[in-house]
Amino acid sequence: MQTQADPPVRQAPSAPSGARIPLHLELNGRPFDIEIEPWVTLLDLLREHADLTGVKKGCDHGQCGACTVLLDGKRVNSCLMLAVVADGAKITTIEGLAAVDGTLDPLQQAFIDHDAFQCGYCTPGQICSARGLIAEGRAQCRDDVRELMSGNLCRCGAYSNITDAIVDVMQLRKAAP
Ligand code: FES
Ligand code: FES
Repeated sequence: MQTQADPPVRQAPSAPSGARIPLHLELNGRPFDIEIEPWVTLLDLLREHADLTGVKKGCDHGQCGACTVLLDGKRVNSCLMLAVVADGAKITTIEGLAAVDGTLDPLQQAFIDHDAFQCGYCTPGQICSARGLIAEGRAQCRDDVRELMSGNLCRCGAYSNITDAIVDVMQLRKAAP
């Protein structure tokens, strides 16, 4: 089930076949400029051209949420978006969530406190998705969190602890009403 908020509607610029397209992004608060082939996904751009390998490739088909990043504050599956479509956007990955002095984002700390991971492969996507979820303001209870995070799969089955961590940060009731 795809539960993430719809990303902003953006259109890919047209370019002659095989041409590279200039692209400007703000990646974790820093300007990033590159010329890129129009078929490169945002996920591959982040991992292979920007060294942001905290962003994970799971299914590469929009089914697992491992590639979730924030685009202008909204969570998106980066494997489903062409990099050129994100031109001009502010992208935040797991590498950009902690403060400059190294203080972890409250969600990062909560995942540690609640032991909300096993292998950790899904964790960057889970945390970015949770950050987007909080910004959306739609979750009012634990069940909402479970439903609205259902686009982020965890093959280790750490769902209960992941939900606990998010609920803690949101200061929601732990029990469903
Ligand atoms: S890698 Fe993007 S949703 Fe699975
Ligand atoms: S902690 Fe292993 S996939 Fe989620």
